[in-house]
Amino acid sequence: MSASPLPTAVKIVEVGPRDGLQNEKQTISAEVKIELVNRLSEAGIPNVEAASFVSPKWVPQMASSLDVMQGIRRQPGTIYSALVPNMRGFEDALLAKMDEVVIFGAASEAFSQKNINCSIAESIDRFREVARAAKEQGMRLRGSISCALGCPYQGEVTPESAAEVVRRLRDLGCDEIDIADTIGVGTAGQVKRVFEAAAKEFPLERLAGHFHDTYGQALANIYAALEVGVVIYHSSVAGLGGCPYAKGATGNVATEDVLYLMHGLGIATGVSLDAVVDAGQFISEQLGRASSSRAGRAISAKRAA
Ligand code: HMG
Ligand code: MG
Repeated sequence: MSASPLPTAVKIVEVGPRDGLQNEKQTISAEVKIELVNRLSEAGIPNVEAASFVSPKWVPQMASSLDVMQGIRRQPGTIYSALVPNMRGFEDALLAKMDEVVIFGAASEAFSQKNINCSIAESIDRFREVARAAKEQGMRLRGSISCALGCPYQGEVTPESAAEVVRRLRDLGCDEIDIADTIGVGTAGQVKRVFEAAAKEFPLERLAGHFHDTYGQALANIYAALEVGVVIYHSSVAGLGGCPYAKGATGNVATEDVLYLMHGLGIATGVSLDAVVDAGQFISEQLGRASSSRAGRAISAKRAA
């Protein structure tokens, strides 16, 4: 039996300025974040997750989100997204003129409590108001499901429990839904099963893969998702990141590595790999450490040779 062909084009959602930087202990100025977001949008990335309007007591690094949004050069056509846990965050998202609001729940009860201090059911209730407000304002609405492939507190998470949250987020009117492997424990077969279960509840072309690379499985997992037909992938420039409420979780799969894979497969992204490598070098220098992107390091070394 021959496998179905891979997609011919995918959408890359860059989450480095949010998922990447939220976990940094050192203070990163709004100017540096602005420069990073500008470089990424100018590289052709169609969707940049640039802000998070959560409680600054919970995630201090994201407290400058409004300044960042007010300082960037908006690229026409680029979608700028922000995490929004409640109506307090929604007010800021409106002020910041976000294009897309991201409500973020979990497939695991334990993680929901640790990350947003409420149960899955309570989070859906809280999101209802945010979802309605976003729709009223003509904003895009995305739903993100953490720990869809495993949980640091509870362990195993079944595809059915992830699919159940997909259904609830769909009912809130989400335009796009992310299946997130927060702690990067998932493997390729599991990825296929969770997307197949999710696609019974929500159109496959609007489901996204959000993979962290903790166990080095992210690119294999992306390939598995491509085989299922998933066409939206999240990644972080220089492989930045981690979640403050998921101990030991490393960064997202690096954008440079995903672009190298996609372009090698002849899959169009509309993004300049070279420009993203430059952005990766920029932020790595600012953070005072080497990039976590293998492709980024290799391309930089080749340039220097
Ligand atoms: P809570 O403490 O239960 O809420 O937190 P609260 O309503 O009692 O508020 C506590 C204080 O925070 C109050 O201030 C509020 O005003 C303030 P006080 O009266 O004590 O001075 N507050 C806010 N301030 C600014 N903006 C707001 C806001 N909301 C409340 N929006 C809450 C509940 C949801 C707010 C909190 O748990 C929170 O902010 N959690 C966010 C955690 C987070 O950002 N985690 C990382 C992102 S998720 C992630 O990375 C995973 C993802 O990448 C996918 C994946 O990989 O899995 C998306
Ligand atoms: Mg994440």
